[in-house]
Amino acid sequence: MKEKTKQPWPTKDVMNQIYDLKLWGGEAFDFYSGNGSHNPKIVAPYLDSVISLLQFHQNSLTVCDLGCGDFNIGKHFTPYCTQYIAVDIVKSLIARNKTRFKEDNLTFKCLDIVETKLPKADCIILRQVLQHLSNSEIKKIIKKLNSYKYIILTEHLPVGDFIPNKNIIAGQGIRLKHNSGVDLTAPPFNLIFKEEKTLQTYHLKHNKGRIVTKLYQPF
Ligand SMILES: C[S@@+](CC[C@H](N)C(=O)[O-])C[C@H]1O[C@@H](n2cnc3c(N)ncnc32)[C@H](O)[C@@H]1O
Repeated sequence: MKEKTKQPWPTKDVMNQIYDLKLWGGEAFDFYSGNGSHNPKIVAPYLDSVISLLQFHQNSLTVCDLGCGDFNIGKHFTPYCTQYIAVDIVKSLIARNKTRFKEDNLTFKCLDIVETKLPKADCIILRQVLQHLSNSEIKKIIKKLNSYKYIILTEHLPVGDFIPNKNIIAGQGIRLKHNSGVDLTAPPFNLIFKEEKTLQTYHLKHNKGRIVTKLYQPF
C-alpha cells in the first residue's frame, strides 16, 4: 500500500481556524492575535520604540504592516506616518478591521503576503508573523523585501544560543519548542543588510523566550 504523506493545510485555512477557534486565546474578543499583541508589558515598550523611529523620520514614512492581525498594535501607529497599509490573510478579520478602524491615511487589504505582490511603502512592519510560517514561505516573502528602506521585524526567540530557522509547517505554534527561532541573516535565508539594529527586547518569564524587534535596512 502507498504510504500517505502529511500535506500541510493551506496557510489561509490555518489562520482562519486559529481565529475561529481562538487558538491564541481571547475568549471575550471577536478576533484575538495573542498575548504578544495585548499584554501591556509587551506592547508598551514595543510601541514606544517604533513610534520613536517614526517620529525620528518626522512622521513622513509610508508604512505597510504585513500580517496586521487584530490591529491592537497597528492602530497606534497611524498618527506617525503619512500612509498606513495593513494587510492580513484572514478575510473576515480584514472586514472587521475596516469597520472598526477608520483613518484618512489607513487602508486594509486582504492579501497572502507569500503569494502576492506587496504594496509599496518606505517601511515594512512584520511583527510575530514569520515565526508562524515555514521556511519556504519565509523565503518567498523575503525576496520581496529588498525594495523597502526599512524593515521592522519582531520575532519570538529562545534565550541564549539557539539553532536558527528549523523548519516548521505554518500554524499556531512557533519554533521555540525546538529551541529555534527565525534569523534572516542565518541559513537558509542568508540575508545581508546595510544596517541592523535591535530596537527592543522583551524577556518573558518562566524561560518562555524573548520577543526581539530589529530594524533592518536593505542595500
Ligand atoms: C500572531 S499574529 C500577529 C499580528 C500582529 N502583527 C501583531 O503583532 O499584533 C500573525 C498574523 O499574521 C497573519 N498571517 C499569517 N500568514 C500570513 C500570510 N501568508 N499573509 C498575510 N497574513 C498572514 C495571521 O493571519 C495573523 O493575523
